[in-house]
Amino acid sequence: MYKFPKDSKLNNPEFIFGVATASYQIEGATNVDERCDSIWDTFCATPGMVYKQHNGDVACNHYNLYEQDVDLIASLNVDAYRLSIAWPRIIKEDGGVNQKGLDFYDRLITALEKKNITVMATLYHWDLPQYLEDKGGWLNRETAVKFAEYAGVVSQYFGDRISFYVTLNEPWCSAFHGYRYGIHAPGIADEASGFLACHNLLLAHGMAMPILRKNAKKSQHGIVLNFTPNYPVDESSIEAAQFADDEHTHWFIKPLMEGKYPSSVFQHFNNYMPIIEDNDMAIISEKIDFLGVNFYSRSMVTNGRQGKVSDTILKKLERAEIRILESDDVLEDETKAEQLQKLMNQKESHYLSVELQEVERTHIGWEVHPEALLKLLTDLNSIYKLPPVYITENGAAVDDHIVDGVVDDEQRYRYYQNHLLMVHEAIKMGVDVRGYFAWSLMDNFEWAEGYKMRFGIVYVDYETQERTLKQSAIKFQEFLGARKKGLL
Ligand code: FCB
Repeated sequence: MYKFPKDSKLNNPEFIFGVATASYQIEGATNVDERCDSIWDTFCATPGMVYKQHNGDVACNHYNLYEQDVDLIASLNVDAYRLSIAWPRIIKEDGGVNQKGLDFYDRLITALEKKNITVMATLYHWDLPQYLEDKGGWLNRETAVKFAEYAGVVSQYFGDRISFYVTLNEPWCSAFHGYRYGIHAPGIADEASGFLACHNLLLAHGMAMPILRKNAKKSQHGIVLNFTPNYPVDESSIEAAQFADDEHTHWFIKPLMEGKYPSSVFQHFNNYMPIIEDNDMAIISEKIDFLGVNFYSRSMVTNGRQGKVSDTILKKLERAEIRILESDDVLEDETKAEQLQKLMNQKESHYLSVELQEVERTHIGWEVHPEALLKLLTDLNSIYKLPPVYITENGAAVDDHIVDGVVDDEQRYRYYQNHLLMVHEAIKMGVDVRGYFAWSLMDNFEWAEGYKMRFGIVYVDYETQERTLKQSAIKFQEFLGARKKGLL
C-alpha cells in the first residue's frame, strides 16, 4: 500500500482522497434523453482528428452503469469523487432546461450520498454544446453569459449537495488546444482566437462565481488549472523558460489571483490580444474558495523562438500529424493538405523541442518528474496568495494488460507514491493542500488519443464493460482502508 511518514497530513482523514472522471470521457449514451451534440461529438466525427476516429458514443457506458460504478468508487475507500456535468444534457438549444439531464445527475449524486462520498462537480470539462459553437463558441463573449446561466440552473437544483463546485477544468486546454493549436475540439488553429477564447472562458468563470455562491452557500467554489512547469535545458534558456511559464501558467492564474495578465506576454503577443472591457478583470478575479491543480509532467525549454512551447504540445502535434496521414476515411485531399499545413505552421512556431534522453516516460510520452510538483506548489505559494489547494488530477498513462485477472501497473503505483510524497513535502513546507484526486477512476476516452491511452486505476474492457481493479487501485484501497480504521 502507499506509505507516508508517520506524521504526514496524508495519513489524517481530514485530508481528502478522491478519484476523478469527466462526463464525455466516461458516460457514453450521447443520443439519449435529449442530450444535444457537443463540440467533441463533431470533432470525433471529423476524420484525422482523434486516434482511429474513436468517439464518446459508448465510452464506459457510465450513464447506464453508474450504480455499479458508485459501488466501485466506494470500494476504493475514497472520501470524494470528482465528476463533471455535461452542459449538453442540461440546457437545450432553445434555452430550456432538460429535466432528464438533471435527473441523471440526481440519481448519480443520490447514489454517492448513500455511500457517504463527497461530491466535487466540474461544470465545464470541455463538452461545449455544439449549438453554442455554431455561434462562435468561446470566441463569442455571449457564451460566457450562457455558461453563467447554466451554472445557475445546476447550482439552484443541487445546491449544497455538491460540496465543491468547479467552474472550469483547464481553461488552458479549452482555449489553447481548442482554439490556438487546433488539436482539440473545435479544432481552430489561430493565435488571436486562442487568447480570445481564454479571456471569454475566464469571464465565464468569474460571471458564474457569485451565482454559485448565492445558490450553494455552504459549498466551496473554485476553478481547476493545469500546470506543466517549464524548465530551461541550460543557462542560456532560463529567460525562455520564464517566458514560457508566463505564457502557459501565469497567463491563467495571475488574472484569477491578481486581476492582471502578465505584461510580458501581453506585449509579445500584442497583435493577438482580445479586447478587455472595463470591468472584466474585476469579474475574473472574484475571490475563489479553492484552487484545483492538475499536474502530470514538466516541459523542457530551449532558447529558441520565444513565445511558444513545449515538448508536450509538440508531441501532440506530431501524433496529430500521423493521425491525419494515416486516416483511411475519405477525407478530401484538399482538407487533408489543409490540416497538415495547419499543423506544420504550429510546429514551426515552436521552440525546437529537447528530447531529454534517459528519463522515464509514461505511455503517452510525458516525462515522470515528481519533484516538479513540489517546486510548482511551493513556487505558486510564494508568488500568489493562494486559497486552499486541491490536487484535482494527477496520474499516469500505462500500456496496461490483464494477465490472469491481474493488472500489475507498477509504473503507475510508483508514480502515485512518488507524487504523493511530494504533496506531503509541500504541505510540510507550508502549502495548504487539502486533498488529492487520482486521474482517473477508470480507463476512458482520452480525447485526441481515443481509447489508446489508459489512465485509470481501474481497467476497463471496452468490449464487455467489465471493470478490474489494477494494483494501483488496490494500493489505494488498502491505504485508505487502514486510514479509516485509524491504523496508520
Ligand atoms: C487532463 C484532462 C483530463 C485527462 C487528463 C489525462 O488534461 O483534464 O480530462 O484527459 O488530462
